[in-house]
Amino acid sequence: MDRTLRAGENARVTDLERLVQELAERPGVVVVLGATDTGKSTLVLELARRLHGSGVNPAVVDTDTGQSDLGPPGVIAMARTGGQVAGWSEVRPEAQFFVGATSPPGLEAFFLAGCWRMVEAAHRLGVQAVVVNTTGLVHGSRGRYLNQALLEGLRPRHLVAIQRAQELEHLLSACPYPVGIWRLTVRPEVQIKDREKRRAAREAGYRRALRGATLRVLDLTQVKCLRTRYRTGVPLDPAARDELEVQLGVSIAYAEQAADGTWAVLPGEVPYRPWADTERVHAVALENFSQLQVGLLDDGGELAGIGVLESLDLSTGTATVFTPVGQEVGGLVFGTTRLSREGRELGRLRPDDV
Ligand SMILES: Nc1ncnc2c1ncn2[C@@H]1O[C@H](COP(=O)(O)OP(=O)(O)OP(=O)(O)O)[C@@H](O)[C@H]1O
Ligand SMILES: [Mg+2]
Repeated sequence: MDRTLRAGENARVTDLERLVQELAERPGVVVVLGATDTGKSTLVLELARRLHGSGVNPAVVDTDTGQSDLGPPGVIAMARTGGQVAGWSEVRPEAQFFVGATSPPGLEAFFLAGCWRMVEAAHRLGVQAVVVNTTGLVHGSRGRYLNQALLEGLRPRHLVAIQRAQELEHLLSACPYPVGIWRLTVRPEVQIKDREKRRAAREAGYRRALRGATLRVLDLTQVKCLRTRYRTGVPLDPAARDELEVQLGVSIAYAEQAADGTWAVLPGEVPYRPWADTERVHAVALENFSQLQVGLLDDGGELAGIGVLESLDLSTGTATVFTPVGQEVGGLVFGTTRLSREGRELGRLRPDDV
């Protein structure tokens, strides 16, 4: 059943009230969709606040890893919210999932796993409603498939679509069962953020998450490595490595053999690789393993915090990480955002580059 809430000039508050009433009567997962700068974050917190006021126990899940409200950039986070919170800065994440990128393309599978896990974490806490903020990626094939998969996976009870025109209509039919669809128009008060403002907001988020960080040395023979090819195969012995160097005509710092081919880390730049397909050699630059955003997992596999990988000694398996996480580390998740200790974004790698 499609329901349409189209705000009239003086009827916006009434519409929000009616929306909250409907959500409170049939609580469950509420996915808030909207392009960038449509007021999603503001609405998500407002819905959570008002649901709480209506006697419904809510949680929020922030899946917008580019303009995060809850966790640092690159992280999907979940928190329960009370009725009194004045702003996002007062809400503390209760569970987090490391995506390691500020937008999903290339990492969609992990992004969706994180969305699903955080909604699941909210349910485990016994909340009645979970209000999910989304990425703003609604255009093109990427937006279409990402949102279709998100909706099929999360199975929301309600979709709240904040639109300027009709830009979300093609995404609203993705739920394969009856869902409440609520359309809101973008409010005139919504302010547009330019690229620089967005970047500044992300960098402030990294800095907050790195506050109190120190250098920590991790023994990767004891700590699980995730989302990297490192330590997924058998290291090549020096003789085999020498042979490969001669064969490829490049010098190799470290290499492993796995079922899906040879992985070689080159000390210098990675040249154009005509041998990548025929020789089944995947080469990456050693430089990729420094100034990289990483996630540090506790020994139960939950994200304890983020860090900046400063350097990696591939042969001894020692990683030096700048992080505020002080507890025992069970896993190190490699991200794709190049990051300085000061929280400055230095670029983005592809998932295959680490
Ligand atoms: N109802 C409102 N009244 C006043 N200001 C608002 C309202 N909704 C949004 N804004 C302002 O507009 C700006 C953008 O809103 P918001 O951050 O909620 O949008 P968003 O869709 O989450 O943006 P992004 O794409 O960056 O995630 C913010 O500065 C916010 O304070
Ligand atoms: Mg937002």
